[in-house]
Amino acid sequence: MKQTYDFPADTAVLEKIGKLATDAGSNAGFDDIEIGDIQLALDEVCTNTIIHGLKNDPSRMFQMVLQCDPGVIEIQIHESGEPFDPFDLDDPNLENIMNEQSAGGLGLYFLRELMDEVDFRIGRDGVKTWRIVKRKSL
Ligand SMILES: Nc1ncnc2c1ncn2[C@@H]1O[C@H](COP(=O)(O)OP(=O)(O)O)[C@@H](O)[C@H]1O
Ligand SMILES: [Mg+2]
Repeated sequence: MKQTYDFPADTAVLEKIGKLATDAGSNAGFDDIEIGDIQLALDEVCTNTIIHGLKNDPSRMFQMVLQCDPGVIEIQIHESGEPFDPFDLDDPNLENIMNEQSAGGLGLYFLRELMDEVDFRIGRDGVKTWRIVKRKSL
């Protein structure tokens, strides 16, 4: 099953996206813990897309392509907002975070822990794509 959705850059859409992730995850046979991981990962990518990529401007849209098959879910998020190169990011500084000197920068770190595959690319047309995949562990 493969479905495509278009959303405005408004954090109000996160609830709908969470429901779509839960339904897709359970259709693909994931358990509640795995579904929670998928939902959290997708929420992080979409929150970044809305806030960082599209600057909370609801006149700008992003696209989600959701594909699920038994035991595997793959989600792509396409957006053409602010330029971004994840290789420019420093690793999150846990010491600063513990000391409450900074809070940001953990989302992308957790993303890689939650999902089996995380990749990012920028097309020639400037469209940024995040692709996250989870496979059911045997
Ligand atoms: N879709 C995006 N478009 C532009 N910049 C992004 C995008 N996603 C992430 N970033 C940048 O990467 C940084 C790290 O993201 P993240 O680890 O989720 O931390 P946080 O969202 O807490 O700042 C963000 O602060 C932002 O500068
Ligand atoms: Mg974030």
